[in-house]
Amino acid sequence: MGKVEIEPTTMALPMSCVVVSCYEPKHGGNMAAIAFCGMVNAKPPMLAVSFKPNRFSHALIKGPGEFVVNVPLAEQVEKVDLAGVVSGRNLDKFDLAGLTKAPATQVNSPLIKEFPINLECRVLEVVELPTHNLFIGEVLAIHADESLVDDMGRLSLEKAPFLMYYNRGYFAIGERIGHFGFSKSAENEESQ
Ligand SMILES: Cc1cc2nc3c(=O)[nH]c(=O)nc-3n(C[C@H](O)[C@H](O)[C@H](O)COP(=O)(O)O)c2cc1C
Repeated sequence: MGKVEIEPTTMALPMSCVVVSCYEPKHGGNMAAIAFCGMVNAKPPMLAVSFKPNRFSHALIKGPGEFVVNVPLAEQVEKVDLAGVVSGRNLDKFDLAGLTKAPATQVNSPLIKEFPINLECRVLEVVELPTHNLFIGEVLAIHADESLVDDMGRLSLEKAPFLMYYNRGYFAIGERIGHFGFSKSAENEESQ
């Protein structure tokens, strides 16, 4: 198969699709859909989210230095999209989307109650990039819907179809087709 070279673009990589919430004094909270989000360190768990400086949420996060990453189910995609196309500068976006602010334990930013996983984060570093600012945050606490946690207290996310963003489209994560290290175990089995 031949390859063609195309313009460098953010659209070439499948991305996360989360909603980041933060404290806002008038309504108690704001939120924004974020595709530029990923885990960047293991111990302690750290993640990074990238905001354009003109987003209302940008100043709300930069000031107090905290935020919550809320992970939606695929079926909640319409609420995610709404959080990404309307600014909370002049309205309560939680009310607009029919979502509930729930108290976090480590930060003042509210959790989105209806989304099954919430990661409370404290900003450790802000990296100024040409169009966006990257907030690197330490994950201080995680709340997970009990249906997604196994008897050992581990997350079992195969049970729920989560959401991804790719090439301006939303996708539900589908079938599990392997597990970490399975290629090596298969190789071992074959050589035995
Ligand atoms: C699927 C999706 C992903 C988005 N990802 C980002 C992102 O990674 N960074 C960003 O600054 N804005 C992103 N946006 C745009 C913001 O969510 C949008 O500008 C939002 O209205 C900001 O809200 P605020 O002004 O209340 O903070 C995304 C929008 C959508 C729909």
